[in-house]
Amino acid sequence: MYAALRSIGAYVPKNVLTNADLEKMVDTSDEWITKRTGIKTRYIADEDESTSDLGVQAALKAIERADIDKNKIDMIICATISPDYFCMPSTACMIAKKLEIANVPAFDISAACSGFIYALASAKAFIEANMAKNVLVIGAEKLSSIVDFTDRTTCILFGDGAGAAIVSATNDKNEAIIDINIAADGKYYDYLITPGCGTNKPCSEEVLKERACFIKMKGNETFKVAVKTLTNDVVEILEKNSIESQDIDHFIPHQANYRILNAVANALKLTPEQVVMTVSKYGNTSSASIPMAMNEIYEEGKLGYGDLLLLDAFGGGFTWGSALVPFAGKPLDK
Ligand code: ACO
Repeated sequence: MYAALRSIGAYVPKNVLTNADLEKMVDTSDEWITKRTGIKTRYIADEDESTSDLGVQAALKAIERADIDKNKIDMIICATISPDYFCMPSTACMIAKKLEIANVPAFDISAACSGFIYALASAKAFIEANMAKNVLVIGAEKLSSIVDFTDRTTCILFGDGAGAAIVSATNDKNEAIIDINIAADGKYYDYLITPGCGTNKPCSEEVLKERACFIKMKGNETFKVAVKTLTNDVVEILEKNSIESQDIDHFIPHQANYRILNAVANALKLTPEQVVMTVSKYGNTSSASIPMAMNEIYEEGKLGYGDLLLLDAFGGGFTWGSALVPFAGKPLDK
């Protein structure tokens, strides 16, 4: 049994936050943000919209586009670092409740910006082990809840959103996910961290005063490791599978910073047409960024059945991952 990527969907909240808006909040400028990150806008969820709400909207599109009865879904995996609830219940359980899908395994994956690839790898493994047939894989984030809007080094980077896919069992090797590589190195744990409100430093007045429940990042150091790791990771997966970079139809990297994406694309000698870049519009949406970018080219009519995708992600942990995936979904009915 093989695993095939049958559909993609995404949801973007309605509130846009521009660089001009951020100029009014912290000491920054549109020029600095554009030059250093390529980001122009990001979208922010409503106060009463939680991560599972974003995930549900993306999932409904993925379910419809896969043309599958939701009752045939036998596993729900949600990658997120901004869950609805601290510890429990999982955001996957909240999504299952809202979609009215009961009696199937539902769980979260915490792998920061690599979360979607980790979730895809899990779906593939469960299907190949004959433990699931139709897995709903979601990357959903309400990062605006864990971003410190007084910290100019991080608040300009992140946005909210969700992406979802249906991964199903198939006997046809031609449409099977070819390979997925996932890895981590915990020695970098404090380069990208929410230091407070976990068991290491439980919530207290001091933690709140230090704003320690928000994302802290050693940006420059993270940047350097990100470029090197993202490049090595894709070179390795291409070599291992004897695939040349020119055979890739769409390179979909995690959307953190256009400078990181350009450096990786140049190292692989990819043409601009091969590289999917949505960071200017959505900012960094962590585990949602790859499925949101995939959805973007799907809705633009650029993603067709059989197109070969190369996914590449890097994030807090540090975690990273890459995947070679033929798109096995139907084109969008316009
Ligand atoms: N506006 C104006 N100036 C700023 C801002 C801002 N928003 N932020 C920082 N600066 C200043 C700094 O204070 C510093 O000033 P100084 O030289 O006087 O000390 C100067 O700009 C340069 O700061 P750097 O941090 O060196 O800037 P850099 O070029 O590295 O860009 C950035 C920062 C955009 C964060 C970059 O390092 C980056 O993209 N890092 C990687 C992010 C990433 O890949 N994360 C992984 C995934 S995310 C996840 O897993 C959730």
